[in-house]
Amino acid sequence: MRICADEEIERGFSGFSDIRLVHSALPECDLSRIDLSTQFLGRKFSSPLFIAAMTGGHPDTTEVNIRLARAAEQHGIGMCVGSQRAALEDPIFEESFRVVRKEAPGAFLVANLGIVQLREHGLDWAKKAIAMIEADAIAIHLNFLQEAIQPEGDHDATGCYDTLARFCSESPVPVIVKETGTGISGETAEACWGAGVQAIDIGGWGGTSWAAIEAFRAERSGEEKGPALVALGTLFQEWGIPTVVSLVEVVRTGGPVIATGGIRTGVDMAKALALGASLCGLALPLLRPAMESEEALFARIEELHRELQTAMFLCGAAKTGDMKRTRMYITGKTREMIGQIRGG
Ligand SMILES: Cc1cc2nc3c(=O)[nH]c(=O)nc-3n(C[C@H](O)[C@H](O)[C@H](O)COP(=O)(O)O)c2cc1C
Repeated sequence: MRICADEEIERGFSGFSDIRLVHSALPECDLSRIDLSTQFLGRKFSSPLFIAAMTGGHPDTTEVNIRLARAAEQHGIGMCVGSQRAALEDPIFEESFRVVRKEAPGAFLVANLGIVQLREHGLDWAKKAIAMIEADAIAIHLNFLQEAIQPEGDHDATGCYDTLARFCSESPVPVIVKETGTGISGETAEACWGAGVQAIDIGGWGGTSWAAIEAFRAERSGEEKGPALVALGTLFQEWGIPTVVSLVEVVRTGGPVIATGGIRTGVDMAKALALGASLCGLALPLLRPAMESEEALFARIEELHRELQTAMFLCGAAKTGDMKRTRMYITGKTREMIGQIRGG
């Protein structure tokens, strides 16, 4: 969290700047009545803004989680907590997660566990993670780029698909698969739907970069292997599927889909909705205000909503569902890549 707050850890190209929504000069709707409400996994949200997984598992993160949870409750939006691994290994860290449900009794909350932890500890850990925050769904995160760069990371991904398929048939709540910044391809999405997942969070390339974070961590560690890890992290900052390309690939395979990775404004959110996303996840842009104060966080959320409403108004979209009919121009590298999607 400290590295994310202090350093420049965004890398790559999400593709949003290659998308231009077609302006409607005669929008025939009322800006003050643009309806941001939306549905996801059978629940109603007052906006498609989704607080992506970030924090928990350390006492210092409790205050940030309290603020994020209050924002979820008061703005009627969903929230995914950060990986609950630390709290499952040591109950002393549970409180930094439990506060989320205390502060957001009515919000849609998503538990979070890595696929490798699920493979190692099975349903038992997943049930504990869900119970810890009385979660409405659970996100199973995929982060093999980060694991590959960490010397202590989990480098064996075998058996994960079977783990996921078994878990989907046993889980007491809907299962969401999420990437963490390198995107999900159409092929992986098809495998995930086949395993029985109920939603996919694409976590695309072009926002927070775990390769960059790991490079900073290695640099700060002062360890002998540090420089080699910095070089590896720096090389793999360029690895991943841009968010827009991943979104197009995954939406073509089914849904619902959460678009995350490099979404920075309400205009990016409008573009993601036009491309077929059900929700728009933001991590880093909410972390910095959440670390500052509740007021700063609430102000940023209100700004994002205002930006999204303005973009929707100028597309002539009175409701979020109308955004799926919005026409767009796709230019540059993103157009080239989308043209090469299998079956595209
Ligand atoms: C400080 C921080 C901590 C994160 N921790 C987790 C985590 O524990 N589990 C997870 O699934 N994703 C985690 N993520 C990834 C985000 O959920 C998200 O997929 C990614 O940051 C891309 O979104 P962004 O570009 O808006 O930051 C974290 C992101 C940040 C910035």
